[in-house]
Amino acid sequence: MTTLTPVLTKRFTTDQPWKIANYERLDGYAGLRKALTIAPDDLIAMVKDSNLRGRGGAGFPTGMKWQFIPQAKPGEKPQKPQPHYVVVNADESEPGTCRDLPTMMNDPHSIVEGTIIACYAVRAERAFIYIRGEAIHAIRRITAAVAEAEAAGYLGADILGSGFGCTITVHSGAGAYICGEETALLDSLEGRRGQPRLKPPFPATNGLYDAPTVVNNAGSLASVPYIVLGGADWFKKMGPDGSPGPCIYSLSGRIKNPGQYEAPMGTTLRELIELAGGMSRGKNVKFWTPGGSSTPMLTAEHLDVPLDFDAAVKAGSMNGTSALMIFDEDDCVVRATLKWSEFYEHESCGKCTPCREGTYWYVGIYERLEHGHGTEEDLQTLLDLSDNILGRSFCALGDGATSPVSSSIKFFRDEYLAHVEGRGCPFNAQRELAGAQA
Ligand SMILES: Cc1cc2nc3c(=O)[nH]c(=O)nc-3n(C[C@H](O)[C@H](O)[C@H](O)COP(=O)(O)O)c2cc1C
Ligand code: SF4
Repeated sequence: MTTLTPVLTKRFTTDQPWKIANYERLDGYAGLRKALTIAPDDLIAMVKDSNLRGRGGAGFPTGMKWQFIPQAKPGEKPQKPQPHYVVVNADESEPGTCRDLPTMMNDPHSIVEGTIIACYAVRAERAFIYIRGEAIHAIRRITAAVAEAEAAGYLGADILGSGFGCTITVHSGAGAYICGEETALLDSLEGRRGQPRLKPPFPATNGLYDAPTVVNNAGSLASVPYIVLGGADWFKKMGPDGSPGPCIYSLSGRIKNPGQYEAPMGTTLRELIELAGGMSRGKNVKFWTPGGSSTPMLTAEHLDVPLDFDAAVKAGSMNGTSALMIFDEDDCVVRATLKWSEFYEHESCGKCTPCREGTYWYVGIYERLEHGHGTEEDLQTLLDLSDNILGRSFCALGDGATSPVSSSIKFFRDEYLAHVEGRGCPFNAQRELAGAQA
């Protein structure tokens, strides 16, 4: 096995990998069969030992999250006599982020199998898979996979004669980015408007219908069957100690072959660009996001930063969702940040003032800058706005909205000033000149 031997994507290119018979042919549901022979607490310990860190963005250790679910000790009356739930976050709506959708389409049973194992570990009899509403193709595929798993006895009242039973309900969102935030997702699942809840209390104790709930990203759960089968030590052999395992990196932008690239955690952008066939226009990298639009951008100086949760933070950004959007020397950083800010303004749920008002003001200022009406003071206003949003918003959407703004001003102040002095976007002028000469 080389470092690039696929694990998470090993079925992606096989014949109709979404069908249960083909899934089973390549170790499918072997992880579940093994898991059902292990005591739930030992299973949690195994996932904890593997140091799997949540792939939903924050990198929170999955095993630790499962351990937070209150469990009655043998012979004790349960402290909280409510059901437990597992909620799978497959909302995936951040610009650049496109890793869970390919998994849902190519390998839906890996998510279903991981979900059943999670239910068994935390003693939940009901799970929900929450998928963004626009992704009808993925909703159909996951729904079909759940039906196949039921028919094969992997779901239901007595799974494979183990005495353990659980069911999965597939739920379609309505296409709001905020419903990927775990507590807004829970409100949405309960039939309310999707807006974040105050934390604490956390979902582990007061989640869906106020009951103990694990909310995990679809990709985190899809990794679990491999850990159960291969063991924690095998998993830890891939990538750095602090955030091990295989990772699906989503590459988009100015590269020859955009798409999903599986590699161990800690792979660098330089290596990933090589895998993707190089830059599409033969130009150099100018700026890029390591994990979606809410992670501070990095530059050509950072091509050799290992892309894992700890190293990305050390470099001043975050690993986020491993969604790399790559821009070259001919791309305008002000225009890119205007587009991201428009997204955040549109998706702000409006619950808190810093984010609702701040993202609105961002867009107005960026439009002025991009279209030749900006001033030097606008830069300071953008930074002041960021100071007032970051850490003062109700949820992480607000914080994320500040990332492209603050990081682009940090690295490309001169380009902002060129917009002010040149009365508009210098890249537009260059494009017009090139068009006239052609
Ligand atoms: C605005 C916003 C959108 C989010 N969208 C998603 C998403 O689509 N999928 C996801 O797994 N996590 C998303 N998250 C992170 C979740 O709140 C949560 O941390 C994650 O589902 C936990 O799963 P994990 O521990 O397996 O990483 C989002 C967070 C925020 C603030
Ligand atoms: S930060 Fe934005 S998305 Fe989050 S609660 Fe406030 S307004 Fe809503």
